[in-house]
Amino acid sequence: MTLKLSLPYLLQRRGMNLGHVSSDEPLAMPDIQTILTTWQKDEALVLPKLLEANLPHWNQTIQHAQACMENTLNGMELGETLEENGAMERLESRFSFLASSMEDHDEQAIEKLYFDAGDEKNILAEDLWCKASWLSFHDEDASLRFRFSFGMEGFEDVAADPKRQHWAGELCTSMFPESELITTNPSILKYLTAILNHEPAFVERIVYFNAPNGGAQFHHDVERGHAGVVFAQLSGATFWLTASKPLLMQAMRDFSQENDVKDELQGLLNEPQALSDYMEEADHSLVEELIDQNPKFIAYMIERGFAHVLHTGDVLLLPQRDLDHCVWHSVFTLGDEPGEALSFAVR
Ligand SMILES: [Fe+2]
Repeated sequence: MTLKLSLPYLLQRRGMNLGHVSSDEPLAMPDIQTILTTWQKDEALVLPKLLEANLPHWNQTIQHAQACMENTLNGMELGETLEENGAMERLESRFSFLASSMEDHDEQAIEKLYFDAGDEKNILAEDLWCKASWLSFHDEDASLRFRFSFGMEGFEDVAADPKRQHWAGELCTSMFPESELITTNPSILKYLTAILNHEPAFVERIVYFNAPNGGAQFHHDVERGHAGVVFAQLSGATFWLTASKPLLMQAMRDFSQENDVKDELQGLLNEPQALSDYMEEADHSLVEELIDQNPKFIAYMIERGFAHVLHTGDVLLLPQRDLDHCVWHSVFTLGDEPGEALSFAVR
């Protein structure tokens, strides 16, 4: 699939027109020292075209994944799709399929499949799952994701069980073999080994399909035991705003010196600890209205260099040190087609 993309790129998300991107200069590949220091400064970094040479090898499975996304949009059950594209056979050589659930209690969920690793005689890890969900409730946003984890959702301390984390990752590789574009890439392994001082494990994996009008609002992905996230664009293109939490808070304050913001928000901006705490609340709509829904703020962030364009084959590193220093990020889909991306936590 070829992506039609021409400047200026329009930023549209969930029915809102949020401005545009007017320039997109080609980037050079940073050297390993730059990669290390950028990570240590809690800054996101693009590794341009890192996967480009390897993508053709995975063309067929990327097409299967695209079809899997389209079938899911058309209401087909995931199990049926996996039978059709041969993934179930591959899965059943390593995993036992237990059940599927339509997750009626969860409005954002589409379907969840449960597996054990191994077979009945020799279970290696229990209660692993793949969950398909919508990214938003907006009618015109068809973005969806397949998330891989295990055990009780929402209550799990995933870091406490590296073995099941490992097997949930392997479940992802069996269902979406193009995962190996990250997990066996010598450069990614080399960079992450330098960052972590040990070989990386790729856990809490998510396969994303960001669709036009979709993407993700500003958030972080801090989880105990994880150092950060590696994000790979396998098809399509996305636009990102990224800033460590202190820099994002500073940008909000600076913006409010030159532009009107709601009095209630201005009160928060004057009290850094209150603002920081508020940003961690599930409902932080006062901040959302500024950083996710105000085109002037988005233009302000672009002007100050917090923006990145990810083309097919690019990789983005997102350090997630802790709640106070993690990189917050906001994602927009570019172009007219949904694209596939891998988002793997690193430990
Ligand atoms: Fe994220």
